[in-house]
Amino acid sequence: MSSEASLSRLHINNVRNLHRVRLDQLKRVNVFHGANGSGKTSILESIHLLGMARSFRGGAKALITHGEQDCTVFGALAPGNTTLGVQRSRSGDVKIKVAGAPVRTVAELVEYLPLQVINADSFDLLTGSPGARRQYLDWGVFHVEHRFFEQWQRFQRSIKQRNKLLRRDKMPTDDLPVWTRELARSGEALSKYREAYFKLLTPRFKAIMSQLAPSLTGLELRFRRGWDKSLDFQGALDNSLAVDLEQGYTHVGPQRADVRIQIDGHLASETLSRGQQKLVVCGLKLAQGQLMSEADRGRCTYLVDDLPSELDGEHSALVCKLLASMKASVFITCVHQRDIEAVWPEQDLSETAMFHVEHGSVSQP
Ligand SMILES: Nc1ncnc2c1ncn2[C@@H]1O[C@H](COP(=O)(O)OP(=O)(O)OP(=O)(O)O)[C@@H](O)[C@H]1O
Ligand SMILES: [Mg+2]
Repeated sequence: MSSEASLSRLHINNVRNLHRVRLDQLKRVNVFHGANGSGKTSILESIHLLGMARSFRGGAKALITHGEQDCTVFGALAPGNTTLGVQRSRSGDVKIKVAGAPVRTVAELVEYLPLQVINADSFDLLTGSPGARRQYLDWGVFHVEHRFFEQWQRFQRSIKQRNKLLRRDKMPTDDLPVWTRELARSGEALSKYREAYFKLLTPRFKAIMSQLAPSLTGLELRFRRGWDKSLDFQGALDNSLAVDLEQGYTHVGPQRADVRIQIDGHLASETLSRGQQKLVVCGLKLAQGQLMSEADRGRCTYLVDDLPSELDGEHSALVCKLLASMKASVFITCVHQRDIEAVWPEQDLSETAMFHVEHGSVSQP
């Protein structure tokens, strides 16, 4: 299925300081403004919980209002009115419902409400470990190429098995070549999906960056698949067998893939200013949203926490202009209403709902 356009209703119970919030009149763009500690990020977190069954900050228990046993979020999607519901309890239980019926896995939930988060942690995309960039890339492949998930699962299963064998035996066993072949096949397929997606992503990213930061002409994305370019994956695994046996794990493969983000041949994370880094992060996330809608996979919903931090007015306005022109569904936080009014395109303000957040309560003027 392709995801529907946007969240039209959101009910929150017991997420941090949000005891009971009912939002039945959401628009395409929703702005939550309020003082520090009022509950703005918790609203975005609740949407993340609804779409992914987990928070984007801290563990699940920290999310539940102190003194309560569980938290729940409920949402309806427009235009089809599919409902989603997620409940997490202190005991660790997770209950997920789609259209009123329980679903067993998070994977069955995540395709309904594809989410992109832009917050202070998003800098990890540039400054963090390759894992953050693999996760970014795989999010995109997952939402555009639905056969990807099956390969990803096959790959995870085979690398786990192979590493188990490598840890247990210092000498090759009969099982090892079997699992190595399975790993080679699934890893090769997984990597092909990533590469194909990356090829589509790069030109979109460049086009977006030429609007967001035209002076950064030397920006370059490079995909590293995780093993020697001159070999197929089976060949690379054969070459590293001795080291793998010695150290007890698989050294080469898609689990080591990375996206290098460079400017004029230098790492972007070591060269760009904080504001420039934030623009690159926005560019990367906007490119994925654009690609998704072009691939007719629906639109993704952007959760933007405190957009103005690190960005000057001109650049905040450019990010908002792009979000507005993509017709993306957006949930955005700021301290003062005027912070967003000053930067959001005026002609788009009619599709914008303003909410004031105060001590865990949300009101509309
Ligand atoms: N488990 C919890 N139970 C109850 N309250 C909590 C819990 N976790 C956090 N809080 C409180 O919830 C409130 C809302 O936090 P939140 O991060 O959403 O605020 P915010 O409006 O985003 O603030 P800021 O502008 O500082 O980013 C804070 O006052 C915080 O102390
Ligand atoms: Mg906050």
